[in-house]
Amino acid sequence: MTLRISVIGTGYLGATHAACMAELGFEVIGVDVDQDKISRLSQGDLPFHEPGLPELLVKHVRSGRLRFTTDYAEVGGWADIHFIGVGTPERAADRGADLRYVDASIQSLARHITRDALVVGKSTVPVGTARRLAGVLAAESRPDVNVELAWNPEFLREGFAVKDTVSPDRLVFGVDSGTAEARLREVYARALGQDTPLVVTDFETAELVKVAANAFLATKISFINAFSEVTETVGGDIRTLADALGFDARIGRKFLNAGIGFGGGCLPKDIRALQTRVSELGLNHTMDFLHNVDDINLRRRDRVVSLAHQMLDNSVAGRRIAVLGVAFKPDSDDVRDSPALDVAGRLYNDGAEVTVYDPEGNDNARRRFPRLGYVDSVADAARDADLVLLLTEWNEFKALTPADLAPQVRGTRLVDGRNVLDHAQWEQAGWTIAALGRRFDPAG
Ligand code: UGA
Repeated sequence: MTLRISVIGTGYLGATHAACMAELGFEVIGVDVDQDKISRLSQGDLPFHEPGLPELLVKHVRSGRLRFTTDYAEVGGWADIHFIGVGTPERAADRGADLRYVDASIQSLARHITRDALVVGKSTVPVGTARRLAGVLAAESRPDVNVELAWNPEFLREGFAVKDTVSPDRLVFGVDSGTAEARLREVYARALGQDTPLVVTDFETAELVKVAANAFLATKISFINAFSEVTETVGGDIRTLADALGFDARIGRKFLNAGIGFGGGCLPKDIRALQTRVSELGLNHTMDFLHNVDDINLRRRDRVVSLAHQMLDNSVAGRRIAVLGVAFKPDSDDVRDSPALDVAGRLYNDGAEVTVYDPEGNDNARRRFPRLGYVDSVADAARDADLVLLLTEWNEFKALTPADLAPQVRGTRLVDGRNVLDHAQWEQAGWTIAALGRRFDPAG
C-alpha cells in the first residue's frame, strides 16, 4: 500500500518536503496552524519563491496526491509517517533556538495519533532535543498505539530545494530501532537506489550533523572574508586568493566567495543556537570561534556602509543610492537576516534616499522596511543614482555592463558587494569601483 505521509509545518522546508514526497509517489497531507497559508497551498499557490516548486505543487494538488489541512485529528488517524518541519527561530533572550513550534507540534500530534506511526523530526534543533521529544511522545500518546521518533535532518539550500530533497547529497537517519530505519529506507528508496550515501546513527549525532554542517559553511565564508580585511589593507586580489586556495582538493572552492557575508534563516541563527546550546552543556569556550565567525560576518556589512560613505565624500544625507538585490542570496525571495537589506536600511537611516530593486525579494523587503523605495527594474533603481550598490548576485546583475547603467546614473560609482563584476572593465569605462576584499583609495 502507498505510504501515507503528513508534513507538519508548511514553511520553506515543509512545503518543499510535502510536494517532493508527493512527486516520489506517496500520498501526502501538509499541516499548518496558519489557515491563510493552508488555503493558498490548497489552491496550488506557493507563498514563497523557489524554482521548480510551484510546478510540483500544482501538479500534485491537481492529482489529489497532495492535500493541506489545519486539523491534526485528520492526519493523526491517517498517516504512517509524520515529518516535523516547523521553524526553530532565534530566541531573542539568549540567541538559543526557540523550540515552541516543535514542542507544540509534537504535543498536538501525540494527542491525535490513533494508529501506529513514525514521527520524523526534520527541523534544526539543539542536540538533546530528539531524546527529550521521544519521551514526550511516549508519555502523551495513547497506550494502544505504537509511536516512534526518528531524526532526519534536512540539508536543502534555498534556490535548489527540490533537487536537494529529491536527490540529496547524503541522508542521515537518527534512529532508535531497526523498524524506524526500515521505514525511512522506504521513504527514501529512490535516492538510496541512486547510491546516495546514507548515515544511520543515533539522535545526538543526527542533530549535530546539521548544525555542524552549517557552522562549517559559515566558518568557511568568514574565513575568506577575514582575508578580505587583509587584502583591503595591504592590497591583493581576494578572488584570485580564493581560486588558488580552492585548487587544493582538501579545501575546495565552494563557499569561498568573499563579499557582504552570509544571512538567511539558517546560518546566522544556527551558529548562535549552537553556541548557546554548548554553553548550556557547560562547555563555555568550545564554540568561541563561532563568535568570531559571526563578528567577521557582521563587519562586512559595516564595511559596505563605510565604503558608501567614502564614495559619497561623507555626505550621504539626501544622496540617491540604488541597491541592486535585497534577498539574502540569488534565486530566493527570502530577506531574513539579509545583509543586503541591513545595509540598505542603515544607509536610509543615515539620510540617503535608497531605491531597491530585487527580482523576487521586493515584497518581503517592503514588509520589513517599508520606507525604502522599491522599483521593478535595474534602470528604475539606477535613475539619478549617485551610487550603485550590488548586494545580491542575481544573474541579471552579474551580466550588467557599464553601458547598461551609464544612461541612468548621476554618479558613476559602484560598490560590488559580491565580487562578481569585471572591475577593470568598469574602471576603463570611467567608473569608480569599490569591492569587498579590494583596497579602496577614495582619492582615486
Ligand atoms: C544553508 C545550507 O547551505 C543548507 O545546506 C542548509 O540546509 C540550510 O542552510 C538550512 O539550514 O536550512 P541556505 O540558507 O539556503 O542554506 O543558503 P546558502 O546557500 O548556504 O547561503 C547562505 C549565505 O551564505 C547566503 O547569504 C550566501 O550569500 C552566503 N554565501 C554563500 C557567501 O557569502 N559566500 C559563499 O561563498 C557562499
